[in-house]
Amino acid sequence: MTTEPFKNVLLLPQTNQLLGLYTIIRNKNTSRPDFIFYADRIIRLLVEEGLNHLPVEPQTVVTETNEKFEGVSFQGKICGVSIVRAGESMEQGVRDCCRSVRIGKILIQRDEETALPKLFYEKLPDDIANRYVFLLDPMLATGGSAIMATDVLIKRGVKPERIYFLNLICSKEGIDKYHAAFPEVTIVTGALDKGLDENKYLIPGLGDFGDRYYCI
Ligand code: PRP
Ligand code: URA
Ligand code: MG
Repeated sequence: MTTEPFKNVLLLPQTNQLLGLYTIIRNKNTSRPDFIFYADRIIRLLVEEGLNHLPVEPQTVVTETNEKFEGVSFQGKICGVSIVRAGESMEQGVRDCCRSVRIGKILIQRDEETALPKLFYEKLPDDIANRYVFLLDPMLATGGSAIMATDVLIKRGVKPERIYFLNLICSKEGIDKYHAAFPEVTIVTGALDKGLDENKYLIPGLGDFGDRYYCI
């Protein structure tokens, strides 16, 4: 589903099933094992949706009945790039759908006082410029971290129209800021929240995704 009035934003169909998954991960009383299990289910849906939009070329195969089947196969090569730490939680979802996929990492952390992002480290596949990239980070809040990560990808030669930024929750403010910098990147998301609080956390949001997935 494409959201109006946003261009280049794919919002997962807001089914009762999806709403139920978000209800669990947003609940502050949800245990860490449940948070991981249900966040992983949403991640899988985001990856599948991203894959729906990659280009294909015609491929004809012959079935066991010796009949032809006119199908398709993916045209290009893919890689995942996670924004460490929280984005690493999305790597398995990509691996589950794309066999032996290459994964790159960019370590960006928001300063806890200012909410401004800082880049510490990047390690990306050598041939990333020739690949479609699934950029992985569960939260798009102010947009600062995702912009910094996308800058790294562009400097490595990735074409913006080949980047799909997968996240679980985003804000309008984050989308606007991100798309002002990179209008051609497609954002794939499952939820659009109403805004940010005074600490630049999404509201209603779910708190700190990384802490809930890895620590508490
Ligand atoms: C979180 C999240 C994003 C960023 C989003 O990471 O995973 O990377 O904040 O906020 P922004 O859109 O305002 O930049 P954080 O820096 O808290 O690190 P973590 O992954 O270790 O939790
Ligand atoms: N990072 C998170 O983990 N959660 C938010 O709401 C914003 C940034
Ligand atoms: Mg982060």
